[in-house]
Order: sequence, then C-alpha cells, then structure tokens
Amino acid sequence: MVFHIPWIYTPVRTILAIWHQLTKTEIPELTRVSVMMRERSRVEDTMYAMQKAGAGSLQVISDFDMTLTKFAHKGKRVPTTHNILNNRLLIDDDSTVKMKKLFNTYYPIEIDASLNPEEKLPYMVEWWTKVHDLLIQQRIRKDELARAVRDSNAVLREGCSAFFDCLAEQRVPLLIFSAGVGDILEEVIRQNHVFHPNVHIISNYMDFDHTGVLQAFKGQLIHSYNKRAGALSHGATLRELHGQPNVLLLGDSLGDLSMADGVSTAQNILTVGFLNDQVEERKESFLNSFDIVLLRDETMDVPNAILRFIVSSEISKVHREK
Ligand code: TMP
Ligand code: MG
Repeated sequence: MVFHIPWIYTPVRTILAIWHQLTKTEIPELTRVSVMMRERSRVEDTMYAMQKAGAGSLQVISDFDMTLTKFAHKGKRVPTTHNILNNRLLIDDDSTVKMKKLFNTYYPIEIDASLNPEEKLPYMVEWWTKVHDLLIQQRIRKDELARAVRDSNAVLREGCSAFFDCLAEQRVPLLIFSAGVGDILEEVIRQNHVFHPNVHIISNYMDFDHTGVLQAFKGQLIHSYNKRAGALSHGATLRELHGQPNVLLLGDSLGDLSMADGVSTAQNILTVGFLNDQVEERKESFLNSFDIVLLRDETMDVPNAILRFIVSSEISKVHREK
C-alpha cells in the first residue's frame, strides 16, 4: 500500500535497495564461519568479472593432494599419492617404515609456519629425492598400481565429482598441478570416474622399463615449493589454456599459489586455499596470500558454489536457447 503514496515511494525503495545490498548473499556458502577473506570486495569484484566473461574465459588450476582429495576422513588421514605407494603390495616392510619416517621428518617442515618457502626448499628436494630413490630401488610394477589405489583409503572431497562434471559439461579446462605421483593421481581420478577430456595434468610421472618395472621418474622434479619453475617449463600444456584468461586456483599450500605463473595472459585470478592443518599457526599467512581461505573444510562446497556462480550466465543462456 505504501507504494501508492508517491512521496514515500522513493525513500522506501532506497531503504529496500540498501537492505537488499546489505543482506544479499549471492553465494550463501561464502558466509559460513569456516570461510575467511582478507578483502571480501576484491573477491566479489573478481567473481563478477569472471561471471561476466563466462565459462568460455575460465580455466581452473588445482593442486591435488589434500586439495581435491580430503585431508582426513572418518578420523584418519587420507593418503597422498606418494603415500598410496607406501603399501606392502608394492614395497617391502623395511621401505614402508623408511617412507613413514621420512614423512614424519619432512611433512612438519613443509607446513612449518616459522619457515619461509626458501628455507623449506632444500628439505623438500631432499624428501622427494629420498622417496623417489627408495621407490625406484623397490622395482615397483606398473600393473600393480591400480590395485594399490583400489586398496587405499584415497578419497576425493565431498562434491568433487560434481566439480569435475560441471567443468567438463561447461568445457572449462582443469589443470591439475601436483607434486605427487602422476600415475597414481590419474588412477585415483579414473577410479572415481572423473578423468574427463578437459583434464590436463602436470606431475611427477614414473618411467617404466619395457618389462613394466619402475626405473626412474620422468622430467624435472616437482615438489611443493617449485611449482613456479614447473609452471614455466610446461609452457605447452599451459599454452593450450591461454584462451582462458580467468583462473580459479585451488591449493592447500602457499607453494600452490605459483601454479598460475605460466599463464601469461591471466586477467582475473581468484585463489582459494584449503587450510587443513596447523590452522591457527598458518591462518595469517594464508589470509595474506589466498583470496579465500577455508578452515578445516573437507568439502568442495565453496569451489562448487563459485563455479556455479561464474557459469550461471552460461546456464541461463542455455535455458533461454532451449
Ligand atoms: P600435491 O602437490 O598434489 O599437494 O602433492 C604433494 C604433497 O605430497 C605434499 O603435501 C607432500 C606430500 N608427500 C607425501 O605425502 N609423501 C611423500 O613421500 C612425499 C615426497 C610428498
Ligand atoms: Mg597439496
């Protein structure tokens, strides 16, 4: 009724508009207590710019271990691709103990909030080199890998399949950039039925001899803190994605932020960091580095919501055309 009184119309409409602006939650998932942002307005501006450009301008670059896979499931740590290889099916008892010891020595360094990436770097090279040498000595067989993955407790984050499927449907390239083991990573996503044609992978791949026995790792070693070098040296893979100047980047380590360094034509980059472990100690550095920080969130709810938002104009276009 008040709208029929002309003098009251404008102020009421203004108040309603302000109220809508204050309470608008285009993405309700971003209002959860587990979501932190240093600069909400930057996040919103970037998301609107990405939505305007649409799915055709988007690419996703994601880390794998503890980003697309869970950190923990039913109270137990989820194995990384390296840790899936730490299986008696593939390596002897002595080596499983050694690999566990190496993990217990170097993983705390990887996530130590008091050390900067340069200080961590030599330890990471040491860790990866020792583990890869050990795996090579164990003469791992290529035809045993699928069984090792099947027997493992590897589990993708809740909603991860929907994420992969939506990207495939919208023809958005997904680059998985992992310092893990590429052969295992591929097997995990294959067994989860999400290894779609839009998926590209940069990782450490095993080199097998003609009898199918591991003899080396191919190419330049990728560890948690040299992804920038990896991104620059894999120019060919990244060139394919150059038509997509908007990047949604997902990671669980500060080292993952350099995964998009090879995308020379990037216009908008939105970074999402899963803060899984040492949460209080690392909160500040994560907030200073990622646009969105997810605290102990084992789901893909937020990346899925952002993706839906970005491609929503595309979805409505498809519906309009139908
Ligand atoms: P990502 O780049 O896909 O996250 O993979 C790297 C992770 O793998 C990193 O967080 C450390 C972890 N890792 C192990 O769990 N075990 C190992 O033996 C090695 C070398 C790395
Ligand atoms: Mg990771």
